[in-house]
Amino acid sequence: MKQTVYITRKLPNEIVEKLSRRLHVRMWEEEGKPVPREILLKEVENVNGLICLLTDTIDEEVITRAKHLQIISNVAVGYNNIDVKAATKKGIIVTNTPGVLTETTADLTFTLLMAAARGVTAASDALRGGQWGAWSLMEFTGQDIFGATLGIIGLGRIGEALVKRAQGFNMNVLYYNRTRKYDKERELGITYAEQTELLKRSDFVCLMLPYSPEVHHLIGKEELSLMKRNAILINTARGGLVDEEALYHALKSGEIWGAGLDVFEQEPVPVNHQLLTLTNVVTLPHIGSASLNTRMKMAHLAADNIVRVLNGDTPLTEVRL
Ligand code: DGY
Repeated sequence: MKQTVYITRKLPNEIVEKLSRRLHVRMWEEEGKPVPREILLKEVENVNGLICLLTDTIDEEVITRAKHLQIISNVAVGYNNIDVKAATKKGIIVTNTPGVLTETTADLTFTLLMAAARGVTAASDALRGGQWGAWSLMEFTGQDIFGATLGIIGLGRIGEALVKRAQGFNMNVLYYNRTRKYDKERELGITYAEQTELLKRSDFVCLMLPYSPEVHHLIGKEELSLMKRNAILINTARGGLVDEEALYHALKSGEIWGAGLDVFEQEPVPVNHQLLTLTNVVTLPHIGSASLNTRMKMAHLAADNIVRVLNGDTPLTEVRL
């Protein structure tokens, strides 16, 4: 009898067909809406594999319900939506999709950095709103990118890919990482700085680290107060890294100059969220990895991990604690 995989969101046909060659596939078909919790809890009971997205909370309750589950395959590099400890305890393998989204996410991070520095969305909105008067010298002025200092917090794959983009703009790159990476300093020509030092010296601060409860609100009132007045904060990692209330006040009062946010503590971010009222913030709906090619690669990798594990092989990209 074929083993069964449950997919928590409609995936492209190519992926479903690939899985269906070997497995019985069940899928939540409703476009744009995460599977309701009670359905997930029911579906997980008897399946052998689960393909989920970052919008699905795979916590201890879900894991406990699963009687035959061998693998949880997350279609994302971040896996803070999964209780990996509980899964591992039960012998369930957890996989993610690192590598395939590195360059695309670094592209978007740099896009946000540039858009926030030059106030692209506010200027565009002004034009469309009929507020473009005669060209004037100091109107719509932003911050320079070329030659500025970039501070990267979290030097993983995507952080490194960001360095390469920054080098094209002659930026001076500082980084902070839990473990100092001497080899990368030599290879990439970047400088290590403690987080406080990095916050004080950077014109742009990019958060490139995974979220976990230990780094909840890593950037709060105190950290923002250390940043330069011309500084711009970029977050394409996870919303929980930033205290949004503190960020709002820092942006509103001019304590920092701007922000570029692709992620929020609550997603979708409510349209009446106070951060969306500010013109010095560029906001995006969590699209860091959203190129056609990359999203297909992520889906294929997630499917390949499922097929391999249910076939008794080792997964390609296992999450290990
Ligand atoms: C991830 O993979 O964790 C991103 O947030 C979505 O691509």
